[in-house]
Amino acid sequence: EYIKALHGLTTLEDELSEKLGLKQVIIIPGDSDSDTAVRRELGRAAANVLAQYLNKNDMIVAVSGGTIMANVAEAIHFTQPSVTVVPARGGLGEKVENQANTIAAAMATKLGGKYRMIHVPEGISEEMLGVMVANNSNILTVADMIKRADVLIHGIGQAQEMAVRRGFDNEFVSKLINSGAVGEALGHYCTVEGKNIYITSSVGLHLDDLADVGVVVAVAGGRRKAKAIVAVTNAGGQDILITDESAAKAIQSII
Ligand code: BG6
Repeated sequence: EYIKALHGLTTLEDELSEKLGLKQVIIIPGDSDSDTAVRRELGRAAANVLAQYLNKNDMIVAVSGGTIMANVAEAIHFTQPSVTVVPARGGLGEKVENQANTIAAAMATKLGGKYRMIHVPEGISEEMLGVMVANNSNILTVADMIKRADVLIHGIGQAQEMAVRRGFDNEFVSKLINSGAVGEALGHYCTVEGKNIYITSSVGLHLDDLADVGVVVAVAGGRRKAKAIVAVTNAGGQDILITDESAAKAIQSII
């Protein structure tokens, strides 16, 4: 807290939470893009927020995939055996170690709790997805748990980077970017104003379901993610943002 005050970060936290319309913004000193210690600190701050909110029995935590979520899982330092961790959305085309299912299992293990997974293949049509969901009671049960989550914790990505990471073809990536997509969360690609350009078909939470989730926590840092963070917070439903100094200062200059 002393270091934060020294860097003027406490004031910046208040300024950003007011301008972005969030309940709370937590800023970690430094730049997580160039410093892995800062990534670990982001993970630690997020784990502390989880510890604060996981204060009742039988709570459900929904979690996205991504590298920062792996840091969050790693940083969990408390147990809450009655918790169930679920992926926020089904397969979104990440490498196994970055998939929401993997992160959910890792978090549950740290918490001493339970986890459920969703197995749906990547990029199938809405129609096929509908048939799979309707005929699979496991998917239905987990999809229902996701919508009732007490806490959602998720990452935010740059639209272009996430589209490439998920193996979209070049033509589609260009179309997405030319339509103004700058940020991505939960498979939603949005403009800086928060308009949805494209949604990956998958089972689980959509950005417009977030009002029913207890508390929504986004974790994302690095200057290059500033616009993406603004895009996703403008899309709505967010409560708490955990970010780093370099992203926070870049956000301040664009809002
Ligand atoms: C993905 C999530 O797994 O991770 C995305 O599905 C998120 O919604 C992304 O934007 C963030 O990844 P990272 O590695 O930058 O934390």
